[in-house]
Amino acid sequence: MTYENLLVEIENGTAIVTINRPKAMNALNEKTLIELQDAFVNFTADDVIQVIIITGSGEKAFVAGADIAAMQPLTALEARQFAKLGHQVMRHIEACPKPVIAAINGFALGGGCELALGCDIRVAAENARFGQPEVNLGVIPGFGGTQRLARLIGKGRAMELIFTGDMIDAVEAYRIGLANKIVPLDQLLDTSKKMAETIINKGPHAVRLAKEAIRNGLELDLERANQYEAELFGLCFATTDQKEGMLAFLEKRQAKFKGK
Ligand code: CAA
Repeated sequence: MTYENLLVEIENGTAIVTINRPKAMNALNEKTLIELQDAFVNFTADDVIQVIIITGSGEKAFVAGADIAAMQPLTALEARQFAKLGHQVMRHIEACPKPVIAAINGFALGGGCELALGCDIRVAAENARFGQPEVNLGVIPGFGGTQRLARLIGKGRAMELIFTGDMIDAVEAYRIGLANKIVPLDQLLDTSKKMAETIINKGPHAVRLAKEAIRNGLELDLERANQYEAELFGLCFATTDQKEGMLAFLEKRQAKFKGK
């Protein structure tokens, strides 16, 4: 996979995608969004890839937002289209059956925070800074921030961040549940890769069905969500991984999952 604004490396079943526009703090323009979408279509189809890590190039920024220079002259209809493209990309990431980890190496602002919100797990470097500063530019978050941030950290905290445009550091992001963990910057990728490796060593069907259950279940009321969980739990028993996983426990040995 070769792209203009993304670097993609595949290592032991993990795809590492680096948003690579360091001169613009890895800001998301149309081209980068289209490339990200294309990359996720490929990751979803490629059986070798089991976990995806998204990070930003350099040490200053994960992604400092949607590209302000590209947005400044847009008409209302063009801006709506741009927001829809952003939504489509975040949906591809969220709907990807494989777990997606954001490795946040600096500023995750506006569309960058929204990209992190579209991922399943957020690992923050100590220098990570989060925020939805769109109100400083006379706009609102447009890649799902008004929705996903409130769903993750609660309405009150999301409103505060979005109304004030304030930036928060990694410790505060961790405290409010926006970051899953904080690590020194020089350990960010290794920690994220180790997490990917831990996930890869589990039954892949179980991990994917768990993602599906959590993601889709959260849109339902508890009773329907639990019904849905029961269906997916039942489906696990159609896999040889379930037979192997439980047999290995009973035989007191390590399970050898084949992803079948
Ligand atoms: N879009 C385009 N270019 C950007 C950018 C962005 N979001 N963020 C930074 N850059 C560019 C700067 O223009 C600058 O370019 P030049 O060297 O050509 O001047 C370069 O990256 C370096 O930036 P700074 O000189 O500003 O670096 P800094 O260290 O002083 O500040 C920063 C870093 C705090 C991240 C600051 O750049 C900043 O505030 N960026 C904008 C953040 C922002 O408002 N993001 C939200 C965008 S709107 C959005 O995302 C809408 C949406 O929801 C879809």
